[in-house]
Amino acid sequence: MLHSIDAFLAYLAEWGVQLPFDAELQRGPDAPLATSLAVQGHRIGNRFAVLPMEGWDCTADGLPTEATFARWRAFGRSGAKLLWTESAAVRKDACSSPTQLILNAHTVEAIARLRETAVAAHAQAFGRTDDLHIGLQLTHAGRLSRHRADGVRTPFIAHHHPFLDPQYGLTAQDTVASDDEIETLIDDFVASAVLAAQAGFQFVDIKSCHGYFGHEILCAKTRTGAFGGSLENRTRFIREIVQRAKARVPTLQVAVRASVFDGLPYQADESGVGQPVTYDSYPFGFGCDLHGQLDLTEPIEFVRHLYALGVHLVCLSGGSPYKNWHLQRPQLAVRAGEYLSPEEPLLGVARHIAVTAALKQACPELTVVGSGYSYLQQWLPNVARAAVRLGLVDVVGVARILLTQPTVLHQVLSN
Ligand SMILES: Cc1cc2nc3c(=O)[nH]c(=O)nc-3n(C[C@H](O)[C@H](O)[C@H](O)COP(=O)(O)O)c2cc1C
Repeated sequence: MLHSIDAFLAYLAEWGVQLPFDAELQRGPDAPLATSLAVQGHRIGNRFAVLPMEGWDCTADGLPTEATFARWRAFGRSGAKLLWTESAAVRKDACSSPTQLILNAHTVEAIARLRETAVAAHAQAFGRTDDLHIGLQLTHAGRLSRHRADGVRTPFIAHHHPFLDPQYGLTAQDTVASDDEIETLIDDFVASAVLAAQAGFQFVDIKSCHGYFGHEILCAKTRTGAFGGSLENRTRFIREIVQRAKARVPTLQVAVRASVFDGLPYQADESGVGQPVTYDSYPFGFGCDLHGQLDLTEPIEFVRHLYALGVHLVCLSGGSPYKNWHLQRPQLAVRAGEYLSPEEPLLGVARHIAVTAALKQACPELTVVGSGYSYLQQWLPNVARAAVRLGLVDVVGVARILLTQPTVLHQVLSN
């Protein structure tokens, strides 16, 4: 445990971790983390966001249960003024678990009540909601699809992958999603966006992160046809959804959460520690080159293009929990079956912040939400304050830390 600022800074120096850090914190409305910002006419009352965290606690037909309501209530009370809520599947076979939230005509009313629950909890805790911004993440799980009650996977893949295919029992003979199937999926995303607006959400996020379909299609360099190969083709899926959703509901803000950096897949060595699996050439990443090294050329072009299409709010993440979890979720403790972290997790936090800052710098007009801060634990306020004050990020998003400390953001802002 690193209980003093000196000990923490010495530890960072020892590991060569470069993090923004403000030793002095500040309370009150002028504190950097307490200032509001506006995105496309929407006011966000402070610089904290709750990041999406699905709980796999819905009914088989995608309706929220009391556990789902409790989670949304807690997020409403968290103190964050931006609630980037959990992934809702755009149809049943798009679910990553048989108990994921689904947005369709049957569930839209219940999902509207979920949103109202978060708003009511926020109003009760903080007295005002005019500066609360709430969006719903829309998703297709892609190769991670697992909607059936018996738990059998039903992968919907954008391209074959040398590491992931064998993990999920796929062979070269299994078919990839056709262009027509992708066009149908675009229709489904657009229909869900219309329903999300009907449910009262101010924005929808077209999920493009963590190995799910919207991310995999960005990586589909080996795919042929209209959705593969060139960056223009690989972004066609998201561009079509954005354009069509905006045309159908001009008042709905369309946002994107994307994995904008990546690397090679990792697997455990004999001592359990993650080691990269190497390939002569690795044309399967978005935000990395053919050797798996960080390369932000395409992500920079991507976010600039999104901005030109009217996507002014993005949330940036990296990697995928299914092939290199430590890139996406810096931590020391691991789940059963996972390799041990190959790096000091603070390096992973620093990578998130540096990549996010690079994209923010490349497209300063974008409102950028960062991820991966939870591992900072008690140093979250110091790093978050510095990151916002220095303009490295607009909004600090947090996920896991809220599971153990649901009101930590309010505590940071008020004390
Ligand atoms: C239980 C759990 C569920 C998650 N569900 C989602 C999700 O539905 N959509 C998403 O984009 N990310 C999801 N994530 C990833 C988080 O949003 C976040 O990117 C990650 O936990 C790193 O941020 P943190 O360090 O603040 O936890 C989930 C993470 C956890 C721990």
